[in-house]
Amino acid sequence: MRIVILLCAIFYIATASEFAPNSACKECHPLIYDEYMSSQHSKASIFKDEIHAAVWSKHPKNIKLKAYGCAHCHTPAASNLKELTAPNNGVVPDVNNTTHTDGISCAYCHRIKSISLGAKRNKNILSADPKSFFGDSNISKTTPFHTVIVRDVNSSSSDICMGCHSHKKNKFKFNVCITTMPKSSDTKSCVSCHMPKQSRESNQTARFHGFAGINSYAPMLEEHVELGFEKIKDGFSIVITNKTPHALSLHPLRVMQLRVSVDNKALKSVNFLKLIGSDGKPTPPWLAKEVVLNSVIQADESRVVEFTYDLSSKSKIDVVLGYYLVNPKALKGLGLEQSENVKRFRIFKEQSFKL
Ligand code: HEC
Ligand code: HEC
Ligand code: HEC
Ligand code: HEC
Ligand code: HEC
Repeated sequence: MRIVILLCAIFYIATASEFAPNSACKECHPLIYDEYMSSQHSKASIFKDEIHAAVWSKHPKNIKLKAYGCAHCHTPAASNLKELTAPNNGVVPDVNNTTHTDGISCAYCHRIKSISLGAKRNKNILSADPKSFFGDSNISKTTPFHTVIVRDVNSSSSDICMGCHSHKKNKFKFNVCITTMPKSSDTKSCVSCHMPKQSRESNQTARFHGFAGINSYAPMLEEHVELGFEKIKDGFSIVITNKTPHALSLHPLRVMQLRVSVDNKALKSVNFLKLIGSDGKPTPPWLAKEVVLNSVIQADESRVVEFTYDLSSKSKIDVVLGYYLVNPKALKGLGLEQSENVKRFRIFKEQSFKL
């Protein structure tokens, strides 16, 4: 009897920190699985995200310490997370280890119970049982593979995201990335915009697991940013209204660009970006101590951009709002200047106005 209990205890300790691989969900949740596989969460490792890999290849924690701290958010289900994030022990990301290539895995995300707030970064608090998953059900269920457990009524659905997305500080205690939390009065949460409810063939409604973002499914987010046109003295203005609870283009590598042409004649484009650095000059994130320039469009802001132009009574104004994933000025330093996928300008929203 004692031996059995002891064995159970050892078994529990051995499995408690383990996460079922993504492939284990495929058979019973095939549509969600396919969507998820196309998402950036499934591609968050250095093996599937060339931008992440490029930044990691230059990072002092790689060059000097071989300590892949990024794993806390980019591959949090790693079977050897502790060793992987510790310095100079010979453990580095391994392409043959599926827990290193799975990215932000299904089982990891569905075990997030709550978050604990931290100065450097937040942390996710997980369900103790590796086969108990939170869903949006308000009753517990048992399935042949796992149980479904009920989330605390006080937790907001955005908590599931803010363990990783809230902020990240470097060694100078400077915040390199920040995502502001929706206010409690907001009717929209991270989940409602980035995982909208979908009608599926099976007639079930379920949350979209492609995680609409800048890398993929950007058109699904277009409705949350409005473009407007106003005629003013000596020209016109374009108004960009951000109806989201966070700044547009959250990552410091991005550049958002407004391209306007009148009767097919292109005017000078306008960039919205956040440059981080020190002594007034841009630096890589690990050396940054200050915001050098910040022209990104903030949460709930309406940005008015004025153009001096002699419009005719029949002028047609074409407006394009789009992105570069990586600031074109940083491409070379990161060795990404050959990648068409990274280099290309991505159209987020287009609209034409006629006088
Ligand atoms: C053997 C089949 C099977 C496998 C494998 C499986 N599930 Fe499920 N899952 C189910 C069933 C059945 C339900 C319950 C559907 C219902 O009654 O609403 C469910 C429900 C869920 C729910 C909750 C839905 C809700 O009501 O909110 C989540 C979350 C979930 N599964 C996640 C996963 C994850 C993550 C994996 C892979 C690690 C996985 N499942 C693997 C069968 C399975
Ligand atoms: C606190 C969690 C956290 C940690 C730790 C973390 N990241 Fe990230 N990272 C994120 C999140 C969240 C995003 C998505 C942000 C966005 O798209 O605006 C991201 C996105 C990125 C991107 C942009 C990827 C793309 O395809 O556009 C790069 C590059 C990146 N991280 C590099 C790193 C590196 C290198 C490390 C380790 C030195 C690291 N991150 C550690 C949370 C983290
Ligand atoms: C375990 C950490 C983690 C959690 C939890 C998490 N994310 Fe992410 N998320 C990331 C990282 C890391 C990236 C960047 C991956 C990359 O590009 O390498 C990312 C990228 C994204 C992107 C950008 C996608 C794109 O196409 O550019 C969106 C949108 C996003 N997450 C939304 C969410 C939402 C919504 C939630 C909550 C339901 C959530 N995330 C929970 C770590 C996390
Ligand atoms: C970044 C976090 C994240 C990842 C990764 C993720 N999910 Fe979800 N999933 C959610 C959220 C958020 C919901 C909405 C319900 C809730 O609030 O928990 C959800 C809902 C579900 C549901 C309930 C039905 C529905 O669609 O509303 C199932 C089943 C499910 N996920 C399975 C999976 C499977 C299988 C995978 C991997 C193939 C996966 N999830 C990956 C966050 C995630
Ligand atoms: C009202 C809808 C809405 C809500 C709510 C919302 N977002 Fe977004 N999000 C957007 C839109 C639109 C974009 C694309 C434009 C941009 O770059 O911000 C976006 C972009 C993103 C990106 C990609 C940014 C980049 O530079 O790669 C991430 C990551 C993200 N959101 C995470 C979150 C998280 C986490 C929450 C909850 C705290 C959240 N969003 C809440 C609409 C929303």
